Amino acid sequence: MSQKESTVELLTGKDCEGKKSRIPAKLDWLQSVTGLFLALFITFHILFESSILFGKEAMYKLTKMFEGEPFIEGGEPLIITALAFVIFSMFIFHAFLAMRKFPDSYTEYQRYRTHRKLLKHSDTNLWFIQITTGFAMFFLGSIHLYMMMAEPEKIGPYASSDRIFSDWMWPMYLLLLISVVLHSWVGVYRLIIKWGWFDGKDPRKNRKRSKMIIKTLIALYLLLGLASLTAYMKIGYEHQDDYGSRYISENHK
Ligand code: HEM
Repeated sequence: MSQKESTVELLTGKDCEGKKSRIPAKLDWLQSVTGLFLALFITFHILFESSILFGKEAMYKLTKMFEGEPFIEGGEPLIITALAFVIFSMFIFHAFLAMRKFPDSYTEYQRYRTHRKLLKHSDTNLWFIQITTGFAMFFLGSIHLYMMMAEPEKIGPYASSDRIFSDWMWPMYLLLLISVVLHSWVGVYRLIIKWGWFDGKDPRKNRKRSKMIIKTLIALYLLLGLASLTAYMKIGYEHQDDYGSRYISENHK
């Protein structure tokens, strides 16, 4: 297929002979797979991040484990740069695929708003949550991932807390946390409905049950994320006079 032909397919959803193209379905599938992978990543990320609730030493040890300390003496922060680069590439690719579904003019957006008010349909509202949180994450997630790629050595109980408290990154993290938790779990719920994963014999009942589980997970993850952010803030506040000094492990004292 020539590049011109594939562009026509991508834009019109039909091939040059007017038959329905398979490209939109493939792009939809790719959007689901990348979205699911990213949601899984965030689920573990927020759990790992909460190691700070178990103390500075716990967060330090986990950071060093991700730097490959069991295999490389002292750890190698470049491993974090590489990991962040892979996640960043997937994040941008997922956003690029999602952009196809943005309303592409103000008139289209207004038409959507009227439709939303008329229908009061919860799935239309979910789509709105996805679009707005996705838009916010595009900027906030990019800032965060760029920092992680550029300064991977500045991750740790004091370095992270200094960044969050003294460098005033907490408002950014707060907004990112709310956006990412809503976006990930609402996204997973939409996948459950779209692919009918747990429909079983009674789809209506099982979809209701899925919705309840998703709502509980949103609440739990928001609480956990907020608790971790508060712990970083507290450490950052106590450490402000020593801003910039690094944490020394209890094993190295
Ligand atoms: C490999 C990639 C990533 C690494 C290495 C990483 C690392 C970190 C670290 C070390 C923190 C603690 C704060 C700090 O040191 O500045 C943090 C917090 C956070 N990250 Fe990431 N991150 C990654 C990807 C992402 C992505 C893709 C998102 C969402 C788009 C995300 C969302 C968050 C949020 C919301 C927080 C605050 C957590 C909380 O309040 O508990 N991170 N991340």
